[in-house]
Amino acid sequence: MKLLVICLGNICRSPMGEGALRARLAASPLAGRVEVDSAGTSGWHRGQAPDPRAIACAARHGVDIAGLRARPLQHKDFRHFDYILCADARNLDDARVLAPPDAHDRAVLWLPWAGIAGTSEVPDPWYGDEADFEHSWALLDAAAQATVRRLADTVESGIIGP
Ligand code: 4NP
Repeated sequence: MKLLVICLGNICRSPMGEGALRARLAASPLAGRVEVDSAGTSGWHRGQAPDPRAIACAARHGVDIAGLRARPLQHKDFRHFDYILCADARNLDDARVLAPPDAHDRAVLWLPWAGIAGTSEVPDPWYGDEADFEHSWALLDAAAQATVRRLADTVESGIIGP
C-alpha cells in the first residue's frame, strides 16, 4: 500500500500529515508495509524544508519532520500511489486536474476517506498562529490514526498481503 498526502505548499499540512502517518504506522502492526510520501499541488516551495512552525508543532508531538523536502505533485504519482490523500477540497480539485482519467478516484479528501466525522477539510494554518497549527495537527493525526485502523482492517480481510 502506498499513500501520498497532499496540500497546497507541501510545507505545513502535508509534511505534518506525513509525519503523523509515519509515526502511527511505525507503532502499528503495519510497520514497514506502507509507503508514505507527501507533495504539494503547487511547486512554490520546491526543495524547501517544512515551515518552522510545522516542524515545531510536529516536534511538540514527538515527531521529527525537519528532514522532509517539498515537491510538487506529478502526473506519475497517480500511477505509483494507491491513494492521494488531500487536505482540502481545493487540493482535491487541483490534484484531479493532474490525474489520468482512470486514476481520478485515487485522489480523495483525507478526513472523510479515513472515516473522520464532522469535518471534511484540514484548514490551512499558513496565515495562522501556533493554535492553528495545533488544530491542523489534531485533525491530521486523527486522520492518520483512522487510516491505520482502516488499513489494518484491509490487511485482516486479506486485501493487503503480509
Ligand atoms: P500548506 O500551507 O498548503 O499546508 O503547505 C501553505 C504553505 C504556503 C502557502 C500557502 C499554504 N503559500 O501561499 O506560499
